[in-house]
Amino acid sequence: MPEAQARFVAADAPAGPLPQPHADQPLGQFVPVEGSVPTTPHLAPAPAQALTLPPEALEAPEAAEPVAAVPTPREGDPELVQHAEDLDTRAADQEDPQDPQNPQDPQDQEEMSTAPVEDVRQSTGPAAPAYDDAEREAVLKVMRERRDIRNGFRSDPIPHEVLLRVLEAAHTAPSVGHSQPWDFVVIRSAETRGSMHELAMRQRDAYAKSLPKGRAKQFKELKIEAILDTPVNIVVTADPTRGGRHTLGRHTQPQMAPYSAALAVENLWLAARAEGLGVGWVSFFDEREMVRALGLPEHLEVIAYLCVGYVDEFPDEPELMQAGWSKRRPLSWVVHEETYGRRALPGEEPHDLLGETVAQIRPLDAKALGEAWERQKRMTKPAGALGMLEIISAQLSGLSRQCPPPIPEPAAVAIFAGDHGVHAQGVTPWPQEVTAQMVANFLGGGAVCNAFAAQVGAEVCVVDVGVAADLPATPGLLPRKVRAGTSDMTTGSAMTREEAKQAIEVGIETARDLVAAGNKALLTGEMGIANTTASAALISVFTDADPAEVTGRGTGINDETLARKTEVVRRALELHQPDPADPIGVLAAIGGFEHAAIVGLLLGGASLRTPVILDGVSAGAAALVARAIAPEVLAACIAGHRSAEPGHVAALNKLGLRPLVDLDLRLGEGTGALLALPLVQSTARAMHEVATFDSAGVTEK
Ligand SMILES: Cc1cc2nc3c(=O)[nH]c(=O)nc-3n(C[C@H](O)[C@H](O)[C@H](O)COP(=O)(O)O)c2cc1C
Repeated sequence: MPEAQARFVAADAPAGPLPQPHADQPLGQFVPVEGSVPTTPHLAPAPAQALTLPPEALEAPEAAEPVAAVPTPREGDPELVQHAEDLDTRAADQEDPQDPQNPQDPQDQEEMSTAPVEDVRQSTGPAAPAYDDAEREAVLKVMRERRDIRNGFRSDPIPHEVLLRVLEAAHTAPSVGHSQPWDFVVIRSAETRGSMHELAMRQRDAYAKSLPKGRAKQFKELKIEAILDTPVNIVVTADPTRGGRHTLGRHTQPQMAPYSAALAVENLWLAARAEGLGVGWVSFFDEREMVRALGLPEHLEVIAYLCVGYVDEFPDEPELMQAGWSKRRPLSWVVHEETYGRRALPGEEPHDLLGETVAQIRPLDAKALGEAWERQKRMTKPAGALGMLEIISAQLSGLSRQCPPPIPEPAAVAIFAGDHGVHAQGVTPWPQEVTAQMVANFLGGGAVCNAFAAQVGAEVCVVDVGVAADLPATPGLLPRKVRAGTSDMTTGSAMTREEAKQAIEVGIETARDLVAAGNKALLTGEMGIANTTASAALISVFTDADPAEVTGRGTGINDETLARKTEVVRRALELHQPDPADPIGVLAAIGGFEHAAIVGLLLGGASLRTPVILDGVSAGAAALVARAIAPEVLAACIAGHRSAEPGHVAALNKLGLRPLVDLDLRLGEGTGALLALPLVQSTARAMHEVATFDSAGVTEK
């Protein structure tokens, strides 16, 4: 079956050892299915049960709104990112801007915004006039074009009248109780600037040491202050005692004094831009150390240390964006209508986060995929010599729509932690509190995942999505608990449908946060005592395998416990009769919060065209759910490793994914995905750096 050999794994191949490529196997070929671009290049993607999510699958029970349409790309300032598509390269197949769901007619919009409001004072006469178009445009322009500047400062002096106008603008800022808590210390002396520079350098070094390697490399290239390059530095302070004891508004919120001073900084920044002056805000200081070094009164707070001077140019985008350090979050991610989480831009219908994410998932880009195969052929190596890695690099090209694809660095592993009601059935010898204890271990840097992450330079991000304990706030922990553990799936649903959806949204939000923070690869990780029971149940449903075939020993259980665990899975399936055509229903009945969150991470990553490296059996189970929700999610998925759990093999076979690492690991925590990360990064780097036969003057076969 020569054609079938081009596929590594048939999508619905039975569980068993995965076929290995032969030397003469035509690697690096993909098999289009019915003229479509396959989801993953290394398999002929037999679509999962075609997604016809029942409307209730995506909706909160009380809010019977249609699944959100894909938001309309908007016209106007290209820098203003309003929708997720704008975060990355634009979709090749852009949506119709005339989407009827998105009323463009200003009259429509006006009607929508004049909903009757009770107790509104009857207005008489015209409202106060707005600025005319040119004036308004000037105001918006200065906001758009304000930039934090660190590069390209000139030493030209700033005329007094110019600096005076800038300081006057700062001094007109609003302030709590009109307390005007700011002062401005204007520093010109080279000596003082020199000592401030030294303080900042020390903090810079401390920060650099705290970074994962993947980030530290990037950080080295960044300039973070221009203290010595600018003729003037301005220290903006806040006096929290100004105005006496009864300052209006500060009584309950003492932080209003520094907030007010921050507004003065923004005014200064905008006015400086209008004068052609660049401003760089430096916060690499120990505030108390700086207060002492500058001889400031001890009761003052330092709000900002600003470097001010004329510049060669104002970059179009934040310098951190240009350097690939971060991305701008679209406006549509941060505007909520009435209640937090009900996202809608003015004039648009509120959109469902899950529905919106699914709508943005696209197949691999055929053009970039084709370019990748062509490039692989011209690279100075025998065709197919990089085996599976050639296929991964083509997948990365198709996903990013770029050839060569971006090197997936920096990367972050998201470890979702949750507890399981089914623990009560004696499916593991480990006590439930170990979940919370291991979370503390991850945060303290003492787990295997921390060691592996440190070795490969990835960030560890721990997300409490359902731990059955109150976890103290700790740097690196995202508190996103949906509930303190699921219910026992053998006596009822593990979660409600709404909870399952909420946990999926936690995963989507985590993907968004990590990608906007500049990560170019996401890795799945999980922690949850008893979660291999839920994984086995999910895999059984989606692979149609008997629980005995997919239930494993997890952390290492004896025969008796394994028999009980298998029975528990069987009983849960008999109780719920889960329907694989209703993936969210399946997740709610027998899944875990961490499985649901991984589903969200996969969907979120795919919607942002960012590769997601899957870890072990829980990730495999979650990928089956994600594929049932959006088959094209597999475009972003790379199987990091094959775990020792039998269910994982079944899941990978069903998904048609071939694992990169196969070392009998059975730990979870993202460890297998972390080990696979350098392989994925290496193959992308090869696409950039390996010479072609033409360029190197090497004779072809
Ligand atoms: C409170 C605050 C502190 C900042 N501290 C630093 C800093 O220490 N070093 C630095 O390079 N940029 C610093 N920045 C600048 C930001 O990195 C910059 O504003 C951001 O990247 C967005 O770019 P833009 O200001 O050009 O839009 C700071 C900005 C703010 C608002």
